[in-house]
Amino acid sequence: MPNNTPEPQAVCNPISRSAIFIVATVAHGEDKADVVRSWCGDIAALVRAVGTRAPTANLSCVCGFGADAWDRLFGAPRPASLHPFREFGQGDRRAIATPGDMLLHIRADHMDLCFELASQMLNKLGDAVTVVDEVHGFRYFDLRDMVGFVDGTENPSGKSAAHYTIIDEEDPDFAGGSYVIVQKYLHNLDAWNGLTVEQQEKIIGREKLSDVELDESIKPSCSHSSLTTIDDNGKEVKILRHNMAFGRPGAKEFGTYFIGYARTPAPIEQMMENMFVGRPPGNYDRLLDYSRAVTGGLFFVPSNDLLDELPDRNPNAAPASIGDSQQENESEGTLNIGSLKGTSQDE
Ligand code: HEM
Repeated sequence: MPNNTPEPQAVCNPISRSAIFIVATVAHGEDKADVVRSWCGDIAALVRAVGTRAPTANLSCVCGFGADAWDRLFGAPRPASLHPFREFGQGDRRAIATPGDMLLHIRADHMDLCFELASQMLNKLGDAVTVVDEVHGFRYFDLRDMVGFVDGTENPSGKSAAHYTIIDEEDPDFAGGSYVIVQKYLHNLDAWNGLTVEQQEKIIGREKLSDVELDESIKPSCSHSSLTTIDDNGKEVKILRHNMAFGRPGAKEFGTYFIGYARTPAPIEQMMENMFVGRPPGNYDRLLDYSRAVTGGLFFVPSNDLLDELPDRNPNAAPASIGDSQQENESEGTLNIGSLKGTSQDE
C-alpha cells in the first residue's frame, strides 16, 4: 500500500476477546440522514474518549454502510463493488439477505468497553437509526468458536492482511476502504456434539485439539477449509475473519457471528457459494447441516479520512451558486479537484 493511501479504519486490528456487532437501519427523512452524516465525523472522538480510559484494552470500532444507505446518505460517487448482499443456496441451506443500512463492529479485550462505546454511539444516533440485530460476542478459551475449533488460524497478518483487505488504486476515490460481509449463524449444538471428534475434524478440515490442518490424503474436498480455500489464476486469495462465539444457554441459543473483510466482496461471495451450493455443486459444506445463517449483510467501510469528509456529503444539498463556489475556491487558492468534499449528485 503506498504511503499516501488514506488511513484505513481498524479493519486489521489484532484479535480481541470481546466484540459487539450492531446492524441498524437508517430512518427516512433528511433530518435523520443529517444526524447519521454528522455522526460519521464524531466516531474517532468517541473511540478516543472511551478507549483512553483503558489504554491496554485495544478498543476499536469499524463502521460500514450498505448499498442503498450509501446512495441515500452520500450519493455519487459510490464504491465500485458496493451492492446488496447476494444470496446463495436454497431450502434449509441458504445464505439469506436481511435488512441493514449500517454495521458497527466494536472490539476490545473487555466487554465493558465495547458496551460503553456501543451505548455512546447509539446515544448520538438517537432515533435516526433502528437497531435490527445486536450480538455480543466472546472468544471461547484459546480463541475457539462455538463449534469448539480454533477460529482465525489461516488469517493473513501484518502487511498481507492490509494487502487482502484494503482498497488501493483499483478504486482511487475509495482507497483505504474495505468491504465487509456478516452472517449470524445458529448451531444445532446437540447434533454437532453427537458427532465424534473425528467426524467434526473431517467437516472442518483441521484437528480439534491441536488445530493442525488434516493431511490432504484424508481431508475431504467438502471440508470447510477446502471449500473456503480459493485461488485467482493459481494464487490463493485470502480474507480477514474476526468471527466470535455468542449465545444464551438458557434459551438454547448457540451461535457463531461470521465477519469477513476483503478489498472486494468477490472472494467472500465465492467462498459462500462453495459452502452453500458446493464445489462442484452438491459437494457442499457439511458444517451447514449443523449451522443455519439467520442474517446476511454486505457493507462498505470508508477509510478514516473519508469518514471525516462524509458529514459534508449531502447528495440533496442545494448546489452552491457558481459565484459562491468560485469565490470559495479563489479564497482557498484551490480548484478543489480530486477532493470528495462538496461533491453533489450531479457530478
Ligand atoms: C458457522 C460459521 C463458521 C464457522 C464456525 C467457521 C469456522 C472456521 C474454522 C474453525 C476454521 C479453521 C481455522 C481457521 O483457519 O480459521 C475456518 C476457516 C476458514 N473459514 Fe470459516 N467458519 C464459518 C463460516 C465461514 C464463512 C461464512 C466463510 C466465508 C464466506 C468462512 C471462511 C473461512 C476461511 C477463508 C477459512 C480459512 C481456510 C484456510 O485457508 O484453510 N468461514 N472457519
